[in-house]
Formats: sequence, structure tokens, C-alpha cells
Amino acid sequence: MKEAAELLKKSKHAVVFTGAGISAESGVPTFRGFGGLWKNYKPEELATPEAFSRDPILVWQFYRWRQEIAYKANPNPGHLAIAKMESMGVVKAVITQNVDGLHQRAGNKHVIELHGSLWRLRCVGCGAVFQIEKPVDEVPPRCESCGSLLRPGVVWFGEPLPQREYSIAIELMEKSDVVLVVGTSGLVYPAAYLPQLAKEKGAKLIEVNVEESALTPLVDIFLKGPAGEVLPKLVEELP
Ligand code: APR
Repeated sequence: MKEAAELLKKSKHAVVFTGAGISAESGVPTFRGFGGLWKNYKPEELATPEAFSRDPILVWQFYRWRQEIAYKANPNPGHLAIAKMESMGVVKAVITQNVDGLHQRAGNKHVIELHGSLWRLRCVGCGAVFQIEKPVDEVPPRCESCGSLLRPGVVWFGEPLPQREYSIAIELMEKSDVVLVVGTSGLVYPAAYLPQLAKEKGAKLIEVNVEESALTPLVDIFLKGPAGEVLPKLVEELP
């Protein structure tokens, strides 16, 4: 823990890379862990463009349910610790695979959402994008400009990452001297490539996870435990 804090204290450009594990203690299910979404639901039936054109109501029922969970959830001490690290200037940005918006609700200002957001909807007809604050009322929601179907503003399997966010993330990783990797299995590409890129560029990797992930062989320091417990302790070591 002290070693990790030393690395962060000395860092000139540290960034945080998060996955579903950071939101687990807020009651937001992960994807592959125990009780993970993809353990109970088939991603090919719910999280692909084909699934949406086949059955937009089923897909929207699934995403509205995820919106309701994220809406009722609160940032946990792990999210708050990362927001604290940003306000202290210790970390420059958060690159997240999560779509729940909890980093922003915890107070983080510089958040790169690689997989989109549950709180953005996009029209499949005119391409208009709508920011929302709470779960959609009607399923499926329709575009107020052209009346076409709206889709969740998340990245589905088989879809490319949003270009702007991905290139900013690559830039941040190439500049980083320390990357704090929190709560990801490191199994989903191209997102999982980002910490590897930083490592190739000479950055030190610190991982926080309840168990080893696909990225653990790469990391310099592995802090085993729930993010909501480990990260506040890390912040305590930072002044
Ligand atoms: N604290 C820290 N880590 C945790 C915690 C916790 N409280 N609970 C679970 N974890 C870890 C698990 O051990 C696992 O390594 O979080 C990781 C969650 O992994 P996944 O469920 O695979 O989630 P993630 O890596 O974010 O998935 C990547 O896959 O399904 C797609 O688009 C989706 O963004 C998602 C992407």
C-alpha cells in the first residue's frame, strides 16, 4: 500500500482505468463475476445491434432495468476516493468501461467513457443524441425530432469504441507514468489494451481487485481487496 502511494505521490501524470468492479459495492452487478450479468443473460440477445433490430422492446427492458439499478445506486467509498485523488491533483483523469455515471456523481471532472453511457440515448433515424437524468419512461423510447427509435448510448458487442473517447484514452495512457487499474477482468478489447499500452510506454501499473485478473501478470503492485476498502486506505497514505 505504501509503495503504491509512493508511486502515485511521485507521479507526474497518473490516470485511473476502471471496470465494473468499482461499482460492485454500489449494488451495480458486474458482468463476469459471481452474479454477473452475462452469467444470467445472453449478451448476444441483449447487447448487440442485431439483438436491438430483432427485439428493441426486450433490449430496452434490459437497459431500463440497468438504468434503474444505476439510478438508485450511490457512489461508494471507492468512487469517492478516486474523485478525491483527482481533486488533489494526484490523478489526471479516469478512463472507465462503466456506463453507470457513478464516477461523475462522485465528483470526478475528467471522465472518459469508453463504452458510452446509460444516460445518453441516440436516435437510429436522425442520429440525434439526448442526455437523460433518469430511467426512460416509455419502452421503446422514440426520438422527439423524427419519431424514430432511440437506442441506449452504450457500445454493444461488435461495435467500435467512440473514436473521440478512444483517442483521448490512448493519448492519456501514452503520457501516463502510473496507471491505477481498478475492478476489471481485463478480458474485453480494445479497452483492455490500454493499460498494456501504458506499460509498453514505461508506466507503472497498480491493480486493485478482489481477485487476480487477466492484467495481473503485467502489474507492478497488486492490492487485493474490494475497491471500496482499498482505495480510501490508499488516499490516506497520499498527503
Ligand atoms: N472491488 C474490486 N474489484 C472487484 C470488486 C470489488 N468490490 N468486485 C468485483 N471485482 C472485480 C472482479 O474480480 C473482476 O475482475 O471486477 C472485475 C469485473 O470484471 P467484469 O465483470 O468482466 O467487468 P469489466 O472488466 O468491467 O467488463 C468489461 O465487458 O461486458 C462488457 O461492456 C462491458 O464494460 C464491460 C466490459
